[in-house]
Amino acid sequence: MANVAVIGAQWGDEGKGKVVDWLASRAEIVVRFQGGHNAGHTLVVGDQTYKLSLLPSGVVRGKLGIIGNGVVLDPEALLSEIDRVTAQGLKVGPENLRIAENVPLILPLHPALDKAREAARGQDKIGTTGRGIGPAYEDKVGRRSIRLCDLAEPETLSAKLDELLLHHNALFRGLRAPEFAKAELLDALLALAPRLLPFAEPVWERLDEARRTGKRVLFEGAQAVMLDVDHGTYPYVTSSNTVAGNAAAGAGIGPDAIGFVLGIAKAYATRVGSGPFPSELFDETGRLLGERGREFGTVTGRPRRCGWFDACMVRQAVKVGGVQGLVLTKLDVLDGLPELKICTGYRIHGEVVKRLPAALRAQAAAEPIFETMAGWSGSTRGARSYAELPAEAVKYVRRIEELVEAPIVLLSTSPERDDTIMMRDPFAG
Ligand code: IMP
Repeated sequence: MANVAVIGAQWGDEGKGKVVDWLASRAEIVVRFQGGHNAGHTLVVGDQTYKLSLLPSGVVRGKLGIIGNGVVLDPEALLSEIDRVTAQGLKVGPENLRIAENVPLILPLHPALDKAREAARGQDKIGTTGRGIGPAYEDKVGRRSIRLCDLAEPETLSAKLDELLLHHNALFRGLRAPEFAKAELLDALLALAPRLLPFAEPVWERLDEARRTGKRVLFEGAQAVMLDVDHGTYPYVTSSNTVAGNAAAGAGIGPDAIGFVLGIAKAYATRVGSGPFPSELFDETGRLLGERGREFGTVTGRPRRCGWFDACMVRQAVKVGGVQGLVLTKLDVLDGLPELKICTGYRIHGEVVKRLPAALRAQAAAEPIFETMAGWSGSTRGARSYAELPAEAVKYVRRIEELVEAPIVLLSTSPERDDTIMMRDPFAG
């Protein structure tokens, strides 16, 4: 049995939560390998609705959850999430949650810097979640992060805070924002240490053991390929690598252990925050997709921008993300539309191109080239086999499969976990 990695193939919010939950029930370990509490999804289990941002989904299903070193961890956010799900009757402790001891922490100065920078950018803002993700990753590569293991060494922590504040308070002064005092940060971290340290361990050892004993591991990606810091629509991206290749580095395991890579894409497209979105709709159809798809951010509540499925972009995400099979979600949102469009390429300054360019002006100038397809009058909602789908819906799915150059292995036809058409079992490799 192979392991599976799940990544978003568009700009996030593709409905990964349902797919991850469905797969988590069949895995033994679920690992988060990048991002932080900028991610968010809702899991409905029985009569409880769980809103998760940092906890790997498997924890809800009684599996071992691992937060890998590739994540940026806000201790306060984690502990309040644990308190929230505990109040809902779930048990979260070191027996079912392990955190990489070398994970970098998000401190209160990170969201403060994130927000101050966004405010300073004015019209050109990225539209971040304001959770401090970018500044925390900057500190990681700048080699000044406070990491979870530092909480066990008060002297190291104190010296590292001096270095960190030297850097950050200079920035805050420049941004005319309030500076941070070391004593407060130090006290707060030392107060959190007894609750956090029992979760810390070298998770690479546990993953190595899982590999030797043939345990099934699910790598749970957050955000999506077009928000990848290298391969996305830079600078309108998040600050981590969201491609499947990062599951190895972000967890501490070799690339051959990642297993089958599943990309998740919605049957149309959405984006939150700023940045290029060539197939975006500004008309009644766009509004309708947003309303029917309940397209509001889980973390920030912002309305999402909506548009037609961009096969050219998803094809690119398939290639750079390492996607071997695609899951198409929310097909039912398209039910009843008289006609559908799929973006197959772009016209940029009069030239036809089949990829989203990297340069900003070229990206902004990309005009979508659409192929029009007939819609369907019947319903796809809740379908559990291809035979239950209207013929035009099957044609739409098949055309997408052809254009993105990846097989569609799962089709999700409603938010219910079992309303899924499986063409191929991802765990079978
Ligand atoms: P950051 O990750 O908060 O730095 O935000 C950078 C960009 O990524 C912004 O456009 C956010 O809207 C977007 N983003 C971050 N996390 C998510 C997510 O989970 N879903 C969708 N977009 C996200």
